[in-house]
Amino acid sequence: MSKKELKEEIRRLAQEKNAVIMAHYYVDGEVQDLADFIGDSLALAQQAAKTDADIIVLCGVHFMGETAAILCPDKKVLVPDPEATCSLAESCPADAFADFVAAHPGHTVISYVNTTAATKAVTDVVVTSSNARQIVESFPEDTPMIFGPDQNLGAYINSITGRNMLLWNGSCHVHARFSVEKIVELKREHPHAKVLVHPECKGPVVKLADKVGSTAALLKFAIADEATEFIVATESGILHEMQKKAPQKTFIPAPPEEAMVETPEGKRSCACNECEYMKMVTLEKVYRCLRDEQPVVAVSPEIAEKAIRPIKRMLDISAQLNL
Ligand code: 13P
Ligand code: SF4
Repeated sequence: MSKKELKEEIRRLAQEKNAVIMAHYYVDGEVQDLADFIGDSLALAQQAAKTDADIIVLCGVHFMGETAAILCPDKKVLVPDPEATCSLAESCPADAFADFVAAHPGHTVISYVNTTAATKAVTDVVVTSSNARQIVESFPEDTPMIFGPDQNLGAYINSITGRNMLLWNGSCHVHARFSVEKIVELKREHPHAKVLVHPECKGPVVKLADKVGSTAALLKFAIADEATEFIVATESGILHEMQKKAPQKTFIPAPPEEAMVETPEGKRSCACNECEYMKMVTLEKVYRCLRDEQPVVAVSPEIAEKAIRPIKRMLDISAQLNL
């Protein structure tokens, strides 16, 4: 099938099966263009919770599919590639996190949405980078807290709220790789460019930012701000929507340090700012999963019963705060 036929078939199947296709900003541009809805992690969860479709095709990484499946137990949630995981979620095994929580009794447990369902099951409230600050601040200042798994996001939230949350030492291999030196060098070449940084980046990179925020917040800023050039320190898939929404502006992907990375095909050297897991979602796989109605995301009822509480709590607080 040609690309054009593939896209037409996907749209036809989606209509026939009353399926909604949701995509994160990091997947390939051609998958984003095909989706009914694109968004950041919070928007994808909010959208899943309110959809009346029978099938949700979640074009993103596995934890996003799990969150949708937990929120919509009566719907079929499909992911184009079940191997598309997340290094940050993987950096926080549920058993080890449960031991960490047990070692610190009396702490409120905040987990970033980039976690497995099993880790969410030992969590009091889930957050995303869109609402982490507000949710942390919704607790009294003297509340002892644990924040996992992203140490960079946790340290950033501690720094802007004055809290002293205990941090799990996980991180995202894409965001942890951005280089201060290379961004400074780019700034020299583009002195009027504003620097957009996702809070999963390390502290010294965050310090260079004109705007720190979730993918949706960075996009909104880039569209509204008067600057015409932006250096973007997050996964480069977001540039697709930035360029679409603000075609007259220039978006420069921040280059990361070269590093050895573990990929599904083995170890390889990588100097790219792409999440190889997000890029595993292809048009072909979207087509096949919609045609065959698999792979279905399965979360055990015992885990789902525990994990839904902190996810719903996040959605409730976000709704109260209009986030
Ligand atoms: P957002 O919540 O900003 O979309 O981030 C998701 C993610 O995986 C960042 O790496
Ligand atoms: Fe996970 Fe990082 Fe990929 Fe986001 S960019 S999905 S945090 S590995």
